[in-house]
Amino acid sequence: MDEVKPATPAVPSTPGARVSPAQDQAAAANAVRQMFSSIAPRYDLLNHVLSLNVDRYWWWRTARRFRHILRRADASVLDLCCGTGDMTFALYRQGGSSGASIVGADFAHPMLCRATQKGAGFPLQWVEADALQMPFADARFNLVTSAFGFRNLANYDAGLSEIHRVLAPQGEVAILDFGEPRGLLGKLYRFYFRRVLPAIGSMLSGTRGPYAYLPASVARFPQPPEMLSRMRAAGFREVNYTPYTFGVAGVFWGRK
Ligand SMILES: C[S@@+](CC[C@H](N)C(=O)[O-])C[C@H]1O[C@@H](n2cnc3c(N)ncnc32)[C@H](O)[C@@H]1O
Repeated sequence: MDEVKPATPAVPSTPGARVSPAQDQAAAANAVRQMFSSIAPRYDLLNHVLSLNVDRYWWWRTARRFRHILRRADASVLDLCCGTGDMTFALYRQGGSSGASIVGADFAHPMLCRATQKGAGFPLQWVEADALQMPFADARFNLVTSAFGFRNLANYDAGLSEIHRVLAPQGEVAILDFGEPRGLLGKLYRFYFRRVLPAIGSMLSGTRGPYAYLPASVARFPQPPEMLSRMRAAGFREVNYTPYTFGVAGVFWGRK
């Protein structure tokens, strides 16, 4: 499918994730952290069931795109909002035994605990950190990825600017997240995403909140042209968007 090129219009006021509408930024971030902490034990199972295992393909396809970085022994890579680590492992696999340094970071302790358990024996580092205030030096990383995590940040522009700060010059960012396909597939997808998925997710997780939040957060997330404008405003260049699986997901890419 064709890449979407960035739009030129002015960037509107700053959006970010909200679990409920009246929350300020701090309350929203807290609610997101609690929500992911509460579903951590069943997160992987639910992910694979609800995505019909396509999530594995999306992580692999995204990681594969960065072999030119991952296969360098001196490369430093951050997987932000790593959750239980599946994107981080996909990055590691594409690097082979290159020796690239790969860090997974997340602010939900139980999600990171799962990542640590799953990653026992892998030469990966796990850091508990807030994406809006990262404990990393300027220009430390050559690549920052975020899979299905960036959408949950309480302030997207602040998130982009933090990612830009920790990237080295020429460093690359890849933000993988859900999209909203158009046409007949879009209708079917919206029915699945807004009706079927929350019902199954709530039943399997025993809690309703996260799986009602998911479609709402995707609907709130900036459309590709707006997101690309925000990336450019944060200092990224050559930005583009590549849809995956008829636009059900896609990757925003940019270079510092
Ligand atoms: C949907 S999960 C994605 C996990 C993983 N990347 C994957 O692809 O399965 C979103 C993750 O983003 C994390 N997250 C959300 N906001 C964050 C923030 N401000 N700082 C760090 N992690 C955050 C959550 O804790 C959660 O683990």
